[in-house]
Amino acid sequence: MSGTDGGPNWRIERDDEDIVWLWADKADSSANVLSSEVLRELDAHLEAIRLPPPRGVVVLSGKQNGFIAGADIKEFTRISGEDNAYRLIHAGQAVLDRLAALPCPTVAALHGFVLGGGLELALACRYRIAVGDERLVLGLPEVQLGIHPGFGGTVRSVQLLGVTAAMRLMLTGKPVRAAEALRLGLLDRLVEAGALRAAARALIEERPAPRRAPLRQRVLSWAPVRPFVHASLTARLAEKARREHYPAPYAIVELWARYGAHGQGAFEGEARSIARLFTTDTAHNLIRVFLLQDRLKGLAGRCPAPLDRVHVIGAGVMGADIAAWAALRGCQVTLQDRATGLLDPALARGRELINRRVREPNKAIAAAERLRADPHGESVGEADVIIEAIVEDLEAKRALLAALEPRIRADCLLASNTSSLDLSVLTAALRRPGRLVGLHFFNPVAQMPLVEVVGTPGTDPQALQAASAFARKLDKLPLPCRSAPGFLVNRVLMPYLQEAMLAAAEGVPLALIDATAIDFGMPVGPVELADVVGLDVAEHVGQIVAQGLGRPLPPLDVLRERIALGKLGRKSGEGFYLWREGKALKPTAPPVPPVDLCDRLILILVNECVACLREEIAADADLIDAGLIFGTGFAPFRGGPLAYARARGISAVVERLEHLAGRYGERFQPDAGWALLAAGTDHNGLGTAPPTR
Ligand code: NAI
Repeated sequence: MSGTDGGPNWRIERDDEDIVWLWADKADSSANVLSSEVLRELDAHLEAIRLPPPRGVVVLSGKQNGFIAGADIKEFTRISGEDNAYRLIHAGQAVLDRLAALPCPTVAALHGFVLGGGLELALACRYRIAVGDERLVLGLPEVQLGIHPGFGGTVRSVQLLGVTAAMRLMLTGKPVRAAEALRLGLLDRLVEAGALRAAARALIEERPAPRRAPLRQRVLSWAPVRPFVHASLTARLAEKARREHYPAPYAIVELWARYGAHGQGAFEGEARSIARLFTTDTAHNLIRVFLLQDRLKGLAGRCPAPLDRVHVIGAGVMGADIAAWAALRGCQVTLQDRATGLLDPALARGRELINRRVREPNKAIAAAERLRADPHGESVGEADVIIEAIVEDLEAKRALLAALEPRIRADCLLASNTSSLDLSVLTAALRRPGRLVGLHFFNPVAQMPLVEVVGTPGTDPQALQAASAFARKLDKLPLPCRSAPGFLVNRVLMPYLQEAMLAAAEGVPLALIDATAIDFGMPVGPVELADVVGLDVAEHVGQIVAQGLGRPLPPLDVLRERIALGKLGRKSGEGFYLWREGKALKPTAPPVPPVDLCDRLILILVNECVACLREEIAADADLIDAGLIFGTGFAPFRGGPLAYARARGISAVVERLEHLAGRYGERFQPDAGWALLAAGTDHNGLGTAPPTR
């Protein structure tokens, strides 16, 4: 064979020097993923070239953005049961085994993203080279989906890199970039763009000895040494994640402890282990979270107008961070505050954020230069986007917006970062009320992926579209919300925080309240969260939400007493906890929480989510789950509060709420929306069905 040939997903060429070039180029897709079909087609090509073997084989990608982004995650949702998963994985392993067994040199010639199954394919080649630019990322992120590499990656990564580096790649799921990949031995060579083919050819000519882990690393895999390394790895894992919540990292360590990344048994063990993991609730839910993230990304509208020049008013906690983040993401940003003395410190904080986030000094300097003070709002008339982030005070915001309106361009996106005020009230003084949207960022802006995009029935659809497009431009996940007190996330968080405070007032130790929520799977406990948000802010938002919903506020003396003493949380150095160097000093919690505490905290939150579903604050149950996962970090392995309720059984949860209502008060009364959830009449696009076992 000579010239280019192939099926829908691979192009193949055998050149005059008898080198076979295999381009991954998945049909109808901008990125390559390793679906079963793609693997089958690769298998057929490998079979066809095997006899007689060519002088060398080079695997590369026909896509601009990278090599292979990983497995086809949508395919994962169709896996039914452990046997089915095993067959799929085993078949994939066999294809890469065939590649690894070719008697000629094989080269993975990489660029852009090389992730998951893509990196496993590269590991099955004798050599790996890559275009060493900033777009190059190599990683094994499977653990973030509740599984582990399944195409030989748990074995070959240890053989190539040694247990220390391979475990770091697999257990954190974090990718590495060019220089680090070369240093670890994941790559043999880095080359300039355009030099990939020549470098691959050169390796086939030279045939250097293939890399393998250095001796001191190989020693760690020896059978007598392994149990000690295993114990230390497991102890470190236990500090980070509980086995029953996140079994995959433990499975990775155990596979290595059992087989030492050696022999056919290691591959078979890997396939059996991942097949088992596929059937866990954790994997099911984490895959669901991944797809929810994709759904939010897909909700971003297209905006024909540019969204490059951004003006932020209010240089406080939020405004300064939003401004810095927008500059970091490429916007030209001006920052204004009534108190002009606050601008310099706000810009300094913004530059710190940029320096922390942007590795390359030149890029950090350029981003910092895009962020400027504008004490008198001179750039208002030119701005594509204006974000109001002044104090949470209705009259102040109204006055500001009314004064702004005549000065801004007709097509300028006007947004408020209000965390609780009803948009229809805020817009009352505007001549074009439909133009104002809520763009509710979360604190800290750099870390929190969600932005609530808030509208009323009267909001211009174009303004909402521009707002969600802008959120994506800032690499955030837009969640469309209906304007109502607290929108989605704060509305749901309030009863959760308040319940924690009521428990504190009853004398439950603060650290025990937090430990109970963390045991459930929350990233931080509610007491610490209140300190981070600020006790004054929590109280203020709590009041606005309660008033807006016409509900009585629970007696929160524990909160008010602290506020009166100036103990406002992390920002003032003390709230519920003392804070030192950004960390809460927590006393050791007693081991056993009081009866009902976990359900009191979690089910009051879940009940509020059901109320939001009934009131259509977000369009469906999946979006509510997404909002809570990306806006609060709600235990991702549980798939979101409503998925959790479904998994526990709706009638069981309702019964439990009734029991809590009898015992602790009306606030636990099950919402009328439970019937809706039970009937499944909400939109239910993604796999919210229970996992297949
Ligand atoms: P902050 O109190 O830290 O900052 C507000 C800033 O606005 C101050 O620097 C103040 O001088 C300035 N300001 C007040 N009136 C002004 C006016 N008329 N013109 C120009 N500047 C004026 O407040 P923070 O926490 O940054 O909150 C700002 C907004 O963001 C509020 O609407 C709040 O509800 C919302 N928000 C706050 C979050 C938080 O965790 N702090 C989270 C999400 C939203």
